[in-house]
Amino acid sequence: MENFVAYNPTKLYFGKSCVDKLGKEATQYGQKALVLIGKGSIKKNGILDKVLSQLKNAGIDSTVYEGIKSNPIYQDADAAVAQGKAFGATMVIAVGGGSVLDTAKAVAAGLYVAHSVWDFYTRKAQAPTQAAPLITVLTLAATGSEMNMFTVLQNDETGVKSGYGHPLLFPKASFLDPEYTYSVPLDYTAYGVADLISHVMELYFEPSDSPLSHYYSSDIIQLAIQYGRAVMNNPTDYDIRANIMWLATNALNGSLAAGKRGGDWGVHGFEHSLSVLFDIPHGAGLSIVYPAWLKSYQPDISTKLDFLAQRLLGPDAKGVDYINMLEKFYRDDLGIPTRLSEANIGTDKHALILENLRQNRVSGGFFQMDEARHQDLLNRMA
Ligand code: NZQ
Ligand code: ZN
Repeated sequence: MENFVAYNPTKLYFGKSCVDKLGKEATQYGQKALVLIGKGSIKKNGILDKVLSQLKNAGIDSTVYEGIKSNPIYQDADAAVAQGKAFGATMVIAVGGGSVLDTAKAVAAGLYVAHSVWDFYTRKAQAPTQAAPLITVLTLAATGSEMNMFTVLQNDETGVKSGYGHPLLFPKASFLDPEYTYSVPLDYTAYGVADLISHVMELYFEPSDSPLSHYYSSDIIQLAIQYGRAVMNNPTDYDIRANIMWLATNALNGSLAAGKRGGDWGVHGFEHSLSVLFDIPHGAGLSIVYPAWLKSYQPDISTKLDFLAQRLLGPDAKGVDYINMLEKFYRDDLGIPTRLSEANIGTDKHALILENLRQNRVSGGFFQMDEARHQDLLNRMA
């Protein structure tokens, strides 16, 4: 067990119609809300209207910034900051998936500085000393952003997708109504399941030992597989959607980090290069990179692989059975890519990918990656 600090100030509202409480919750954060949304799904399914009427009935004025793309870019955050400053926003409300939530975190801090939010991510700017209160309404289960302090944005000009974390960026409150995820297309639903499993693995395979975290990790992976299989045929089943949503939150809200040293995150770094180069959805990149990573590092993580195999597949199972099961789950049950070629990324792109990995010094916190390892991973995922 490593030393750790447990801190999570986000208040979570979970369940059917929980957004009915948003107006009352928001009144403590002033009377002007900057609302951020993505490219329109939230308008079509009526969720935006519900949020706006909550605000209106609570006497809160709002302005909407629309158009945040999946794999969000810092320019949207800067533009939303400008809109928020002009409006005099006292709070930020994100309605969407991880991309909207991550942008909103940048905006919450950006409202109090004169520079681009990107300067936080490059560490050119000092850490924020203030951030506007952030409320989120989550519409896609995947990232855990609704209950953590992390944000990931990309800069297409420099070819960098970078994470940033600060305690001021925890949402004050997050609203999770599983019914809001009924309309998520099956492919993005599946990417979300792959993402949440990846968060568990990034923390789990890090070399330190924390038994509760490890049992908890294997349970989350097992349930994610069970409900991931089920949701593909029952996308509007409340309990299935609710379980996936809660699993995704638990995978990256700090619970699993107790007794660990922060996780490895090498696979995420590798995936961020794929996202910034090819605009591939985050979860689809992870379902390609993780099987390759597990095979490449198998000798270093054999004890942990065996534990997962035995917990999920029975007492005689070996680590390799876990890897094969996971890959098959992604490919056959979720129907998501496990090879670059299935995402239309040919071997002619390897040089480009290698260059981006090199430029961004992509490596894990514990499992180091040099150029030979980058190449080995690429060969395994070709
Ligand atoms: O843009 P709209 O039209 O809203 O459509 C979105 C988008 O196309 C759609 N969608 C969302 N909710 C919907 C819906 N469609 C129908 N019905 C709904 N209820 O889904 C698409 C994907 O949305 P996005 O927000 O991009 O997905 P996700 O939640 O997977 O977020 C991915 C981003 O989060 C980052 C990733 O790198 C990626 O940029 N991550 C953030 C983390 C964090 N903050 O802790 C950790 C993760 O590891 C991850 O890196
Ligand atoms: Zn992720």
